[in-house]
Amino acid sequence: MATALKIKTADDLWDLYEVNPVEFVKDTLGIPPTKQQAELLMSVVDNKKTHCRSGRGIGKTWGIDFLAMWFLSCFHDAIVIITATNNNQLYDVLWAQLKKLYERWELKQFFEILDYHKTMRMINHHSTFLVAKSSERAGTTKESAMSGFHADNMLIIIDEGAGVDDVIYNSLEKSMTGVNNKMVVTGNPVRGEGMFYDIPTKYRDYWNCLKFSSLDSPLTDKGNIQKDVEVWGIDSDMIRVNYLGEFPKHGSSDVLIGLDKIEHCVNNVDRQDGLCQIGVDVARMGDDLTCITILEGNALTKILTYPKIDDFNQLSGIIVNEIKEHKASSVKIDASGMGIGLVDILRQALYVLQLDCKVIPITFGMKATKPSAYCDNISEMWCNAKTLIDNGEVSIPNNNRLIKELSTRKYSIDSKGRIKIESKADYKKRHKQSPDFADSFNLVCYNPYNITDIEITATGDDLRKGY
Ligand SMILES: Nc1ncnc2c1ncn2[C@@H]1O[C@H](COP(=O)(O)OP(=O)(O)OP(=O)(O)O)[C@@H](O)[C@H]1O
Ligand SMILES: [Mg+2]
Repeated sequence: MATALKIKTADDLWDLYEVNPVEFVKDTLGIPPTKQQAELLMSVVDNKKTHCRSGRGIGKTWGIDFLAMWFLSCFHDAIVIITATNNNQLYDVLWAQLKKLYERWELKQFFEILDYHKTMRMINHHSTFLVAKSSERAGTTKESAMSGFHADNMLIIIDEGAGVDDVIYNSLEKSMTGVNNKMVVTGNPVRGEGMFYDIPTKYRDYWNCLKFSSLDSPLTDKGNIQKDVEVWGIDSDMIRVNYLGEFPKHGSSDVLIGLDKIEHCVNNVDRQDGLCQIGVDVARMGDDLTCITILEGNALTKILTYPKIDDFNQLSGIIVNEIKEHKASSVKIDASGMGIGLVDILRQALYVLQLDCKVIPITFGMKATKPSAYCDNISEMWCNAKTLIDNGEVSIPNNNRLIKELSTRKYSIDSKGRIKIESKADYKKRHKQSPDFADSFNLVCYNPYNITDIEITATGDDLRKGY
């Protein structure tokens, strides 16, 4: 049971546990959270929105019950809303487990359960309460069933989020108008569409995304998992979804690079020895970013971004500093549109400074080096990045914007059977943002010919036609 509790007043609770839910669970429930649960709990402390996908049985539902009890106890006039895919999951699993935990809770004396209303509230202080809210309530639309909650301190919890309708997410997110409003969504990644899939891909910038494997949990039976792996194969959707916490492979087939492969490349290898290359995607429109990526060996070690810079001397100066710092051997610049002006200025600067670094303009939208396989060089660049990522041959930083852009670009097959990457215009229409990070990454990884074999003098032109 719980260790000696030092709580006398509500102030003690706030002082001791407001930013420490792990200790709160240990002290008031007598249960040490697992490492994965602790990560989930601390993510909610540190972030407004947390998304957690995982294999089965790793302790997600208990984890969110822990969070509900902590938030209710440690914040003034707190409201906690919990919901799930359907009434069965909400009442028979989430609510039922919460009641069991309540029975062993050291703070039980301060809270009462109103089972009929699926509510737990603070005794004599009814503005602090938790409610298990069904999205299936008869006679109301799903949206209106969830609307109307507002408080400075509010925690919204969704369990088994892959089955929850997008309108519920939207409705709950709209309620988050208070200063300390948080949302946590957990679940098994059973389908590659809907909001539960969109959060770690399309909306990744706004969420802290966690992924846990059943293989790493002390709560799961590894013998059973091993038997299933032998039957189904480690790469089957059955194992991916139920144990590895990965979305099914065939869930979003028009996306070129799978999220699982991209996440596998996050801090994948130690920085490798090898040439340092720099990629520069030059902003074209006012709201685009100029994005500079530094690839050292096979590790992307740095991403720099700037709002559109019209003065190319200034931009050239920034790049020269990076070349000096990293002893870069080449700089690849997106030379479509404005970028060609930068190429000339940078070459002049390197000539004057006597720096031995090649400036390679690459014009987006030109013919691919393998025109029978790819529609254009942008499609080829994307497929090159896909191969590196699928094979785990590159390391990327844990950068949400880069991961989002890499995991959401679609492709199609043209009438000649070639791969055609979704146009930038279509991508921007879907995401209201230019894929600047991915463009710069693709550029720096792209070696359409052996660059070291090509002589490009500091002031001269490329020998390759078209570049
Ligand atoms: N910290 C813990 N210490 C000991 N046992 C735990 C802990 N957390 C959870 N459990 C046990 O593990 C079981 C599985 O936990 P839980 O139901 O929370 O997992 P889950 O990830 O939600 O599973 P599912 O994927 O099936 O929804 C619980 O019934 C509980 O008995
Ligand atoms: Mg569960």
